[in-house]
Amino acid sequence: FRIAPVSDWSRLVRDVPDFPKAGIVFKDITPVLADAAAFAGAMAQMAAPWRGAPPDAVAGIESRGFILGAALAHALGCGFVPVRKPGKLPARTLAQDYALEYGSDRLEVHVDALPPGARVLVVDDVLATGGTLRAATALLRRQGADVVGADVLVELAFLRGRERWDDPAPLRAAKLL
Ligand code: PRP
Ligand code: MG
Repeated sequence: FRIAPVSDWSRLVRDVPDFPKAGIVFKDITPVLADAAAFAGAMAQMAAPWRGAPPDAVAGIESRGFILGAALAHALGCGFVPVRKPGKLPARTLAQDYALEYGSDRLEVHVDALPPGARVLVVDDVLATGGTLRAATALLRRQGADVVGADVLVELAFLRGRERWDDPAPLRAAKLL
């Protein structure tokens, strides 16, 4: 099957004005997922840097980080760990609060999701301010994991999340928009 180059799959990321509220232009990655060659190209690109030394697990951030993270874990032959919104995980959890532009939010992970020192790659769809990804890396470190990277499909350059990225884990984006 065809594996689309980044110049092709990244064109399928769609701007949706005024979502989730007026004034916000939402980056919708669902057209990339729906196109077989684009999805394959995006996943091949995210997997490439890790082929030599795959992590023990990929941790995906709810909700679109689940889709990309699970596909990436499968491509790399490693496990998958869900990092979820509050109250969704059934067993004992650790929680991490983080600030949003207005208000705050929380991510949770199972306390026993990974053995101590497991090498984990954190994955999400979009880097905007970086707050969500930063909270996930901090949470997994508190869980005992060795966070070896933080990868996103798309980085929104104009929000300058990378300039504020003070986390020791290297940040990588498949496409800068
Ligand atoms: C979006 C996106 C990232 C996050 C990026 O998720 O999927 O997870 O925002 O923003 P940040 O870099 O400023 O933290 P959202 O919180 O909208 O939730 P969802 O993934 O469940 O839709
Ligand atoms: Mg999200």
